[in-house]
Amino acid sequence: MSDTPYKLTRIPTLKSVTDFRQHLASLKLEIPCDEKIETGATSPLAQPIGTIAINGKKIGNRIAIQPMEGWDGTTTGGVTEEMFRRWQRFGESGAKMIYGGEAMAVRPDGRANPNQLIINEENKAGISKLRETLLSAHKDRYGNTDDLVIGFQLTHSGRFCRPHDKRWESRVAYRHPVLDKKFNVTSDAQILSDADIEQLIQKYVGAAKIAADVGADFVDIKHCHGYLLHEFLSAFTRPGKYGGSFENRSRILCEIVAGIRASGNKIELGVRLSAFDFVPFKPDPTRAQPGKLGPGVPEEFPLPYPYAFGANQNNPLELNLEEPVQFVKLCAELGVKIVNLSAGSPYYNPHIQRPAAYPPSDGYQPAHDPLIDVARQIHVVRQIKQAAPTNLVFIGTAYSYLQEYLPNVAQAAIRDGWTDMIGLGRMVLSYPSMLADAMANGALAPKFICRTFSDCTTAPRNGLISGCYPLDSYYKEKPEFQKLKEIKRATGA
Ligand SMILES: Cc1cc2nc3c(=O)[nH]c(=O)nc-3n(C[C@H](O)[C@H](O)[C@H](O)COP(=O)(O)O)c2cc1C
Ligand code: SF4
Repeated sequence: MSDTPYKLTRIPTLKSVTDFRQHLASLKLEIPCDEKIETGATSPLAQPIGTIAINGKKIGNRIAIQPMEGWDGTTTGGVTEEMFRRWQRFGESGAKMIYGGEAMAVRPDGRANPNQLIINEENKAGISKLRETLLSAHKDRYGNTDDLVIGFQLTHSGRFCRPHDKRWESRVAYRHPVLDKKFNVTSDAQILSDADIEQLIQKYVGAAKIAADVGADFVDIKHCHGYLLHEFLSAFTRPGKYGGSFENRSRILCEIVAGIRASGNKIELGVRLSAFDFVPFKPDPTRAQPGKLGPGVPEEFPLPYPYAFGANQNNPLELNLEEPVQFVKLCAELGVKIVNLSAGSPYYNPHIQRPAAYPPSDGYQPAHDPLIDVARQIHVVRQIKQAAPTNLVFIGTAYSYLQEYLPNVAQAAIRDGWTDMIGLGRMVLSYPSMLADAMANGALAPKFICRTFSDCTTAPRNGLISGCYPLDSYYKEKPEFQKLKEIKRATGA
């Protein structure tokens, strides 16, 4: 390994599509990218999805807002002004698919932070208002909501539960040789028993009923980012009916769907999946610089490594999409209509999940160009979509790092059929109407383009509310911004 720190070519230094394409070529990456942003009704992004209806609606365009967990609810998981503002901005974005809004915990102890939304009877009226706020914001700006599809993401945070304060109160599918140390798993008592899981499944069924009652078009049964149901997909070493074979590891999804349907609930279903995973990474301590984290390197790991869904067990830095394809086919058989593909986990390998030029405080500097990580996700979506049945809508992830070239890549990926929809995460926090602007004007407002500073991740990791501190004046003016700067200085992020 070279001791010379990796020198990143920052996207804003690439002044034209030609420069961007040349840079991709120098990295030997194939990412489709149009010369010009297309505007009006002929833009690939403006095309409705004609083949699959969700709750009787034709999705009006190819733009999806990804779920982004809130850290700004009440301590009983209720809604607040910050949440209304965020959902209003989701509505104003022009996206015709709101994939989850933000992760909603199906029970209080399954929260990833003490201020996460909880989907229960107590908070039902508030959640209903969030949806209405989004709908009316969309209607005010775009007129029509008949083609706007809104789902709620249902979650239990498993290994990443922090329902009371900054302490981990992790509950896990199995003991993990690397992650247990990081997330304070010290006893087998933290493993959820089969009986615990049966009870939890009922919570998902109850949450889906609340979602249907307040008018959500679908619920997402979250299987990504190392949270509980994703962890079960890699529970190769767990005994009993939820571990070992593929059938057992995917049983929870089958039982949740069966429970929802047995209750008479016809709500539509989506699954967000980390389609591949790697081992956990850490900053290389030998290459840290003063005030700067080291570049990411893999933690030491055992071989074989039966702990990562969608990875080669004999080399868990390599993909194996056999089971992810099998799982997506299972989703289709179960009547799931939307599959939203992501990767890895923001807690233990953020570079593959959320490619960024600047790391969060618990991350590491990029060890290579983040476009490599963007391209990996784009290609995996393409491969899985090709291998899967055609009665699914696919949403692709990790586009925000593309910055000014996001619209050019997004429209080309849609036209070429690599994905059905483009999911936007961080970019929506800084610049909600980016793709609406692109389609209307063929141009962007550069000052709002997300530069992947990771403040929206660093803040909540340190107990502050999340938001785009550097580019959204609402957060920039908050006293938390000063605190955040101090945390960044102290951690070298
Ligand atoms: C602040 C923040 C919160 C997030 N919370 C969630 C979440 O609750 N559920 C989820 O599936 N993904 C969550 N993500 C991941 C995003 O949905 C998305 O996959 C990721 O940011 C990569 O997409 P991007 O490049 O467009 O940002 C979150 C991301 C951010 C930045
Ligand atoms: S804080 Fe703002 S600019 Fe930074 S990654 Fe988040 S959305 Fe992007």
